[in-house]
Amino acid sequence: MYPLKRNRRLRANDAIRGLVRETIISPNDFIVPLFVTEGKGLKEEIPSMPNYFRYSIDLLEKEVKELWSLGLKSVLIFAKVPEHLKDQKGSEALNPNGLMQRAVKTVKNACPDMLVMTDVALDPYSSLGHDGIIENGKVLNDASVEVLAEMSLSHVVAGADFVAPSDMMDGRILAIRELFEDEGYVDAGIMSYSAKYASAFYGPFRDALDSAPVDLIDVPKDKKTYQMDYANRFEALRETEMDIDEGADIVMVKPGLCYLDIVRDLKNEVNVPVAVYQVSGEYSMLKAAAEKGWLNHDAVMLEQITAIKRAGADIIASYFAKDVVKLLNQ
Ligand code: PBG
Repeated sequence: MYPLKRNRRLRANDAIRGLVRETIISPNDFIVPLFVTEGKGLKEEIPSMPNYFRYSIDLLEKEVKELWSLGLKSVLIFAKVPEHLKDQKGSEALNPNGLMQRAVKTVKNACPDMLVMTDVALDPYSSLGHDGIIENGKVLNDASVEVLAEMSLSHVVAGADFVAPSDMMDGRILAIRELFEDEGYVDAGIMSYSAKYASAFYGPFRDALDSAPVDLIDVPKDKKTYQMDYANRFEALRETEMDIDEGADIVMVKPGLCYLDIVRDLKNEVNVPVAVYQVSGEYSMLKAAAEKGWLNHDAVMLEQITAIKRAGADIIASYFAKDVVKLLNQ
């Protein structure tokens, strides 16, 4: 007895595989994270993120024009704030002439149609390395939300199209939305990091921005009182539904690969676009294995990106965006 149905017919050659392929990657899928730094003429490689760079403002123009020419039309900006500008309240985050605000203007000038998103959280601005304000050893929720809303406003005043709050304080989406409406920025969007887990995969990013929590008594050692416990699944839906009710236009799961069950859950349950952040540690892991010759970099990269999209991601923020698009163009 031979099988009547033979699934291998649909895998017999490249043409038939192409016809039946369910998941196609394109430049439209990506948001490119951009790290900016003070100084001139700087393109600094991040030691724990091989071939990923921090750019000074004067070199940003060239980089975003290259992204645009590759078909990459969205960036997410992160600022590496000089140590002397950090304080306990993140005051520099509101500076209309701060590094982030100048970066937004520079990208918009260089590439007016580029969609500009900005990271909203206090950690790069905080002398203590936390996403909110700390008092008596605790990360305060409501006081942090007030600053985060003002910070968001300053980004859209500078020209950002979307803000991306990554802080995980309760109620920040509503506070940001209300402030935008009150101030007349009704078209400014919010991409909420709605299901962001307390993950060890953020290590290289904290190197990139020098933003890790400082090791002092009375400063929480980790972000577990605001970022989610990675053991939890249903909590992600709760968090995400609340953010949608508060006005999030796009929601997000972060990190990516270890959390694809959550991505699928959200995709099945919510009707706003779902973004996934494939984070720094995921990038560095593959770079390291490929450097050792243990994994085929391009093949594994494409497999991972495709898996993220297959799981339900409508949008992927990834440090691999440029590499992937170059590979697709070959
Ligand atoms: C800041 C922020 C982090 C990331 C994005 N925004 C770090 C953190 O929460 O500690 C991580 C991104 C990455 O690892 O690539 N709130």
